Amino acid sequence: MHNQIDHILLTEEQISARVRELASQLSRDYDGKNPIFVGVLKGVVMFFSDIVRNFTAPCQIDFLSISSYEGCNSTGNVKMLQGLSQDITGRHIVILEDIFDTGRSLSFTYDYLKSLGAASVEVCTFLDKPERRMPGVTLKPKYVGYTIPNEFVVGYGLDYNEYFRNLPYIGVLKPEVYQN
Ligand code: IMP
Ligand code: MG
Repeated sequence: MHNQIDHILLTEEQISARVRELASQLSRDYDGKNPIFVGVLKGVVMFFSDIVRNFTAPCQIDFLSISSYEGCNSTGNVKMLQGLSQDITGRHIVILEDIFDTGRSLSFTYDYLKSLGAASVEVCTFLDKPERRMPGVTLKPKYVGYTIPNEFVVGYGLDYNEYFRNLPYIGVLKPEVYQN
């Protein structure tokens, strides 16, 4: 697994330091607001549990499952595979995502949560790849862990064909991995 990684973009130490900063910021901004953290499965699992464990005020959690990717290419059509398990009317929502890429998944998720009557919806993404943003996407993540260049990355929850999610760091795959 590690020998298929060309280089490491973010180490475990960089990840945990930044995640703690984001969680402190969220703890200040959402103190007394009883937010619901909504995780977009599956890529967000590591980031989600790290953020929530470091969030110091009362909160609830929920998950959505959507799909838009096959291999390295966004298929362009976003599907809802599994919806929320609770009523979010009048609630403050923080969407947690692994990566903001073209912006399709998050725009879809944002509109969906707004349509359910949330009082507020903000986006907290671990990674942001602004160069990949699709024209017409106006949604801006309020909280960003790291802004990264336009490279396909894996690890810390992010996958290539469902593998590499268990790498503890963020890495870039060797080109030959894609050719197999
Ligand atoms: P978007 O809808 O194009 O913004 O894509 C968001 C989703 O695509 C993310 O939640 C990831 O699951 C996946 N994705 C985008 N870029 C990468 C990447 O570099 N590595 C792994 N998955 C990615
Ligand atoms: Mg994802």
